[in-house]
Amino acid sequence: MRLQHCHNFHDFRELARRRLPGPIFDYIDGAADDEVTYRRNTASFERCDLVPNVLRGVETVDLSVTVMGQKLALPFYCSPTALQRLFHHQGERAVAAAASQYGTMFGVSSLGTVSMEELRQTYATPQMYQFYFHKDRGLNRAMIQRAKEAGVEVMALTVDSITGGNRERDLRTGFTIPFRLTLAGMLQFAIKPMWALNYLTHEGFKLPQLDEHVDMGGRTVSIERYFTEMLDPSMTWDNVAELVRDWNGQFCLKGLMSVADARRAIEIGCTGIILSNHGGRQLDGSRAPFDQLAEIVDAVGDRIDVMMDGGIQRGTHVLKALSVGAKAVGVGRYYLFPLAAAGQRGVERALGQMRAEIERGMKLMGCTSITQLARDNLRYR
Ligand SMILES: Cc1cc2nc3c(=O)[nH]c(=O)nc-3n(C[C@H](O)[C@H](O)[C@H](O)COP(=O)(O)O)c2cc1C
Repeated sequence: MRLQHCHNFHDFRELARRRLPGPIFDYIDGAADDEVTYRRNTASFERCDLVPNVLRGVETVDLSVTVMGQKLALPFYCSPTALQRLFHHQGERAVAAAASQYGTMFGVSSLGTVSMEELRQTYATPQMYQFYFHKDRGLNRAMIQRAKEAGVEVMALTVDSITGGNRERDLRTGFTIPFRLTLAGMLQFAIKPMWALNYLTHEGFKLPQLDEHVDMGGRTVSIERYFTEMLDPSMTWDNVAELVRDWNGQFCLKGLMSVADARRAIEIGCTGIILSNHGGRQLDGSRAPFDQLAEIVDAVGDRIDVMMDGGIQRGTHVLKALSVGAKAVGVGRYYLFPLAAAGQRGVERALGQMRAEIERGMKLMGCTSITQLARDNLRYR
């Protein structure tokens, strides 16, 4: 199977599965507990039908949106994800380059493997920087300051990871950073020599967002310990209000699901919320963001930018979320599998396919701009 044979999410996933050592594929593909929420995230779109209008003159279609103060050429962005250079040696650089080419926003994780400064300087499209709340308040302030100096446009505090999710595939393979693989996990690396060669012949693995604070190279702090020892489970709304004030710009909470929390987010001055369950990787059994979207949009959609991510694999999924009232949507595995499959070329192909699917879907729905997408054109089973 080759890149030119990849026409959708499932093809890219399969190519990534063939190219990656098993433990890394399972880290991307896996989710928490029984992975019920992971499956539901996509299934929820299938309970909603599109009802098109026809004969409306759709020769040109405008896919642009403005979200979190950023004008994007596309209504979807690349959600922040960890460890990208482990999936392909180009890592975040490939994703940022592809996002720039398509005029959309890319996320950078605090567990990212290329620095936010380098990405900000090299690629001219908006950057969302994702961070967690640390026990060390100095570190939180330093991170905000650093993002400000780098020129990051949008801050995203992830609030669904107050403790680590139970990812049983990773327990089975021994996937952790630094690696502490089980014997079976090690064998999986041995049978993927191309991946190993690329990994070993490119710049060493590091986490530049955290390197002053967490010594991964010296193997003193694993990601597991980062979550359990350095992040602060006592975080409250008051703490976040302080961060929002410190940042004094576009600030969203990622991983929020309830109406009550959405209202609190407005009260403390957030400009956006991202409905998300971390791609099913945290609380299994939690509701699919698409199922929860209408309730949130109805409650707060006129006062804060509502976004969502989780389970998006098709242009029509994006159209459904926008029709309910999301300002934009994030994709995760949708670009991670193409990254693993073929680096920048893979991500470009996937973003291009998503753009084409949205454009085709809009024409078939009788819409020429995103604002024309409305709930009138949806019916639920
Ligand atoms: C491999 C992987 C790593 C991720 N790393 C992060 C992260 O570091 N920070 C974060 O806020 N979300 C992270 N996420 C969650 C994504 O930002 C996003 O919420 C999720 O992938 C959306 O679901 P989808 O993969 O079904 O599109 C990660 C997701 C995956 C699959």
